Amino acid sequence: MVGIDKINFYTPNTYIDLVTLAEARGIDPDKFIIGIGQSKMSVPPISQDTVTMGANAAFPILEKADLELIDLIVVGTESGIDESKSVGTFIHDLLGVQPFAKAVEIKQACYGATAGLMMAVDYVRLHPDRKALVIGSDISRYGLATSGEVTQGAGAIAMVISSNPRILEIEGETVALTQNIFDFWRPNYSDTAIVDGKFSNEAYISSFHTLWEEFMRRTELKLSDFDAFCFHMPYTKMGKKALLPILENEDKDLANQLIFNYDLGTHYTRHIGNIYTGSLYLSLMSLLNNPDHKLTAKSRIGFFSYGSGAVAEIFSGVLVPGFEKHLLKKEQEEHLESRISLSIDEYEALFNETIPKDDGIHTINRSKTDNSLFYLKEINEHKRIYGK
Ligand code: CAA
Repeated sequence: MVGIDKINFYTPNTYIDLVTLAEARGIDPDKFIIGIGQSKMSVPPISQDTVTMGANAAFPILEKADLELIDLIVVGTESGIDESKSVGTFIHDLLGVQPFAKAVEIKQACYGATAGLMMAVDYVRLHPDRKALVIGSDISRYGLATSGEVTQGAGAIAMVISSNPRILEIEGETVALTQNIFDFWRPNYSDTAIVDGKFSNEAYISSFHTLWEEFMRRTELKLSDFDAFCFHMPYTKMGKKALLPILENEDKDLANQLIFNYDLGTHYTRHIGNIYTGSLYLSLMSLLNNPDHKLTAKSRIGFFSYGSGAVAEIFSGVLVPGFEKHLLKKEQEEHLESRISLSIDEYEALFNETIPKDDGIHTINRSKTDNSLFYLKEINEHKRIYGK
């Protein structure tokens, strides 16, 4: 039995309230709060990037023994900081993982962390005494005053994958789907994404339905074998648009239970925004940390991972006895509560800030609001130097 032994998330501690954003853009706030289903959006300072956010998510769940046992660090990201050197190499160093580990970065839009999870699960199945660290870390950027702006966000998730996991066993049968489409993409020369919004919604929904049919055919599992579903969540309404049609002809109690649990899984995304690769796993933490769920040991959760471009995958997991004792609910909710609200001018200033691109040595101004453990300290002749 292999799966998620520990899990955590990190998000920068500054955010913009989406009523403030809507008013500044001359949009009815109900469109954002109700229509899109988002309330707040994390905004990273220049001192937080995919490396620091990933390290900040992973550090609290790693003990000394883990650092010796981790053989593999996989970082899923679509907002990495180098075209060549992987985010994983920086994180390996910052966390102090044993030297004979391999650290890599995987890219396929928001699907990258799931590719990492599958790689990690396979590795641990072959090496049951060893562990893997999977990270999804991203800054979502569409641009100021664009239709995608309200679905930005920033954050990272980290998961330790091991034998005899204490939270969730990943089941063996998964089904993936690849399609070469342009629903959302970001050419190397652009620091904001290009998106065909309506088409991206349609591609997400149709991918889920195609995969769900194939998943049921291959596994012989049916809807009633599931207690909850977690979705990749670019905004909280999205997964529900995909889920509702498959509930139409089902037992009402089952449908209501799945909708109820879907909603419990939306809370963190509603207050953080789209964190791309980590989003699906943020939804899992949001669900499991909520005291209103009725999930117990052996409850089966379905997962829908979607990365534009597009690769999607459905897999399932079963909760392990005592899972609730191994969640960092208190710390995570304190972290969310302690964040600082930005004015629209402060948000736009942070959005427009860029790191120096010349040959010089530059100290990065760490704002007073960034009290995270790991931060970007300096750019030294194009090398990123991190502080702890
Ligand atoms: N009060 C209440 N609701 C309102 C409203 C109001 N005053 N005004 C509008 N709404 C509702 C609309 O009816 C609509 O609801 P439905 O979706 O239920 O029909 C909703 O608010 C959104 O309105 P629009 O469709 O008019 O919004 P938009 O054209 O501005 O675009 C978006 C929305 C396509 C999500 C856009 O924000 C976007 O492009 N986001 C980025 C792309 C994205 O997130 N795609 C998701 C799938 S791709 C993916 O999942 C990968 C990934 O992470 C990027």
